[in-house]
Amino acid sequence: MLDYTEEDVGNIVSLEHVNIQVPDQAMATLFYVVGLGLTRDPYLNVGLGNMWANVGEQQFHLPTRAAQRISGYLDLVMPDLQALRERLSSVQTSLKDTQFSWAGNDDHVAVTCPWGNRFRCYESGPALGEMAQGLAAVEFTVPEGTAAAIAGFYRNVLEAPADVETYSADAVAHIKIGRNQSLRFRESKESIAPYDGHHIAIYVANFSRPYHFLKSRHLVSEDVRNHQFRFQSIIEPDSGRSVFLLEHEVRSLHHPMFNRHFVNRDPAQSQRNYRRGRDALIPFRA
Ligand SMILES: [Fe+2]
Repeated sequence: MLDYTEEDVGNIVSLEHVNIQVPDQAMATLFYVVGLGLTRDPYLNVGLGNMWANVGEQQFHLPTRAAQRISGYLDLVMPDLQALRERLSSVQTSLKDTQFSWAGNDDHVAVTCPWGNRFRCYESGPALGEMAQGLAAVEFTVPEGTAAAIAGFYRNVLEAPADVETYSADAVAHIKIGRNQSLRFRESKESIAPYDGHHIAIYVANFSRPYHFLKSRHLVSEDVRNHQFRFQSIIEPDSGRSVFLLEHEVRSLHHPMFNRHFVNRDPAQSQRNYRRGRDALIPFRA
């Protein structure tokens, strides 16, 4: 008998943005907008102090301050990897004195941003569902012996489907988000840089239970305001032992920005090959 569990969605309904500080907006524009082909949010944060870069239904938030770096990978889905390779080549000279680099691999293009954040860009297709452009996953590198506790935290506190799988001999906590996103926490022997304050923003259907669990353990780092709160410590739920630091901006579905429409341009448009009425990119597969 079919159990239809593939139709289920956990309590975290979306991973909406990743916030990473950048020290230079001109360089960030070259990388995120020209190179990756993302779209600057035309409505909010349009000055020099911050940039919001839309990637399908998700965003990068890029405040201007000392560079931050995630200890892992940001997995993007894009409609056309050949076009991506051409855009990355076009910014190569301008970014030559930075950590920017890229390489084509079997099934993805690996890209490092000017400040060392690592992206893996996959081409949209049936295996990746309806997403044609978007942030599919974030993978964090975590210390050995923490994956099971991290999966337990997301399962018991945030009420998201979470399990531990083994990839290439590494234990990986895999957290399902919404219909087609995930967080992964991959154990590694490599040394991990101290947490530098980057954050992720998630929307949760049940807001009060995770809030009260964390509040009662003094783990709420910013209390509820405008339908959101923040916490940083991922703990082993039974012992309370902190196993990993990652700031989460946790929003309820009453937050005014839930399901906000993000403008996405088609970076294939150009003055030379202009196609009337086709400036927008639809971030879903046909
Ligand atoms: Fe945020």
